[in-house]
Amino acid sequence: MTSPTSQEIAEAAALLRAGELVAFPTETVYGLGADAENPAALAKIFAAKGRPADHPLIIHLPGIEHLSRWARDIPGTALALADAFWPGPLTLILERTAIVPDAVTGGQSTVGLRVPDHPVALALLSAFGGGIAAPSANRYGRISPTTAGHVRDELGDRVSMVLDGGACEIGIESTILDLSRGSPVLLRPGAIGAERIAVVCGQAPALPASQQRQPAPRVSGSHSAHYAPTTPLRIVASDRLHDYLDAQQHAGLCCAVLARSRATPAGSPHRWRMMSSDPVGYAHDLYAVMRDFDAASVKLIVVEAPPGGEGWQAVADRLQRASAGSGMDADDDRL
Ligand code: TXA
Ligand code: MG
Repeated sequence: MTSPTSQEIAEAAALLRAGELVAFPTETVYGLGADAENPAALAKIFAAKGRPADHPLIIHLPGIEHLSRWARDIPGTALALADAFWPGPLTLILERTAIVPDAVTGGQSTVGLRVPDHPVALALLSAFGGGIAAPSANRYGRISPTTAGHVRDELGDRVSMVLDGGACEIGIESTILDLSRGSPVLLRPGAIGAERIAVVCGQAPALPASQQRQPAPRVSGSHSAHYAPTTPLRIVASDRLHDYLDAQQHAGLCCAVLARSRATPAGSPHRWRMMSSDPVGYAHDLYAVMRDFDAASVKLIVVEAPPGGEGWQAVADRLQRASAGSGMDADDDRL
């Protein structure tokens, strides 16, 4: 695996201390990091991403023992979940302490916290010694980066240093669980599914906010324009896929296809990508494939609909958001 030297890690920690931005790999996606206690550094995150100031950031911690510095009134379920899943792809939303700058939370009384499960992220966090605020290292509304190259392409010299840890193992963003409302609410599905959370909490989390038709989403990622490639994207049921693509062909449109079970028909003009038939492999490749298709300047990305079921929830969620963000399904507000 690609890995920065200990000297590069020390340099990155020094840059963070000096109020600069450092992009780093996590097991989910690359993060754009800044000292979570330095408002001037936090402002640079919003400027580099082009992200509105009221969209809160996740703080990454070196270990569970740092939790009480950033969160108060921590419920027992939070400790049990942190114990079970940290380091790992689970972000917990908790009541914040006075130490947390308003710039991190967008003025909300809660803060998102997680300990990432990646050797480079953990080495950086321990060298830095404190909390690192880090959204995904993409421009606002775009696909999260899963390689250092994606970060450089998108942010260029807006970031002082990019630590290269190779391709991210999971490939989609962490599960976000809100524990500040009495009972757990799943704000964003991810690699840690609702069933595993329920086993630890003793109760199933409520549905993602995005499926509850809430008027004002608290998670910026639940806005429809999020997680979208620049190319329009349409999700089509497996049994309609070939007919749909034939119709596109007749209309003279060459599409990029994310297939899962249907093979390329003979003589198809479309660019066909066979995705993994299991959700873990699918998630791992999804954003990189969307980036490839964006770069290939096709007119339309056609995705064979994922199967139902808990294991596919996070992938289905990201595909729905991508199709809504593309404007193809502007009237589809199921998100
Ligand atoms: O896997 C991940 O979570 C990656 C890596 C870098 O850790 N980070 C990430 O950050 O996806 P970001 O900012 O792109 O998405 C975090 C989401 C945002 O949609 C934000 O609105 C939400 O978490 N969030 C953060 N703090 C929150 C809070 N206090 N209440 C509700 N949502 C919050
Ligand atoms: Mg993001």
